[in-house]
Amino acid sequence: MTNKAAWQTAPDSKTFSIAPGPVPNPSENEVVIKVAYAAVNPVDWKLQETPFDLPYPYIFGTDVAGTITQLGSKVTRFQLGQRVLAHCDGLLTQKKTNNAFQEYATTREILVSPVPEDIPLSNAAVLPLAYSTASAALFHYLGLPYPAIQPVSLGKRILIWGGSSAVGSSAIQLARAAGLDVLATASLGNFEYVEKLGGRAFDYADEGVVGRLLEVLEEGDLVFDAISTPETQGACGEIVGRIGGVLLTTSPVPSVGLPEGVEGVFVNGLAPGLINLDVGDAVWRKYLPEALANGSFVAKPDPFVLKGLESVQEGVDLLKKGVSARKIVIEVDGE
Ligand SMILES: NC(=O)c1ccc[n+]([C@@H]2O[C@H](COP(=O)([O-])OP(=O)(O)OC[C@H]3O[C@@H](n4cnc5c(N)ncnc54)[C@H](OP(=O)(O)O)[C@@H]3O)[C@@H](O)[C@H]2O)c1
Repeated sequence: MTNKAAWQTAPDSKTFSIAPGPVPNPSENEVVIKVAYAAVNPVDWKLQETPFDLPYPYIFGTDVAGTITQLGSKVTRFQLGQRVLAHCDGLLTQKKTNNAFQEYATTREILVSPVPEDIPLSNAAVLPLAYSTASAALFHYLGLPYPAIQPVSLGKRILIWGGSSAVGSSAIQLARAAGLDVLATASLGNFEYVEKLGGRAFDYADEGVVGRLLEVLEEGDLVFDAISTPETQGACGEIVGRIGGVLLTTSPVPSVGLPEGVEGVFVNGLAPGLINLDVGDAVWRKYLPEALANGSFVAKPDPFVLKGLESVQEGVDLLKKGVSARKIVIEVDGE
């Protein structure tokens, strides 16, 4: 068997080299996936700007959708040839096989879900890291009840700052499935998008947005900053300062800029497969397969597809410039 990968040859390189990839050799709990589509995430351009301690030359990418070609000896939940989406955790394991921008990607079974026939793999590929990160925020860090197809109302609200982002799109749906009412910020053009996912939309460009949110939010409600720039952390911090609780943030917690007494908590998107396997079990094995199959959870945002591993750098550059309710997806060997 041969493999091909987009290699980041040195920490500061701004081009990927296409060359033979590692030959998969799954451990007992891993599966090997023939990658049809792999999605680009902000971490991919951030790693090129601020290199992480990785064994270079390395392969990037966390999100894949494709078909299973090998099963570890203890994996019973999947079959060869099955269509799946999966979160590759190579940033944690530092194994070159555990990454997305290659023809064959290997990952642990707990981070894999079947994809129903009516969902194209190009759409399925948008979910993995965003879904894991939103799950980590809600179920590991906030300890909410696990998502259910028919949730019981918790009688409280959550603010998701950045409802049209990839993380925000999963977070809105998972928060609803946990029984929360959802308020979400977005640009005016994405109000309908956010509302279809189940959130009440607020315009983040409106100067009075914090005040408007505070007219609705009450003590005991929750705040998740899915964007986590200094500006959004400041706005969310102000809200937490008024209603209490902690500020969940997807970027490192700022050492200055949060109101006094407001605690920021960094959300690690690897938590469901690393720190809290109960969350991984609940969201990846139990909830997502059923929710995708019956349409109660949808694969959003929609993909913007670029062809071939040769286009990974173009995808990384495009994402860095910014997208709006879109995910950049690389067609590796499409359906
Ligand atoms: N800690 C982790 O493990 C982890 C995991 C995944 C992601 N992240 C981080 O989480 C952040 C989001 O990632 P992503 O992949 O979800 O991003 P993304 O989908 O690429 O974000 C694009 C979206 O951000 C929205 N946006 C931009 N500025 C905004 C603002 N000031 N207020 C509200 N929304 C705003 C845009 O909304 P409009 O188009 O409506 O303006 C756009 O739809 C990134 O910083 C990423 O690095 C962290």
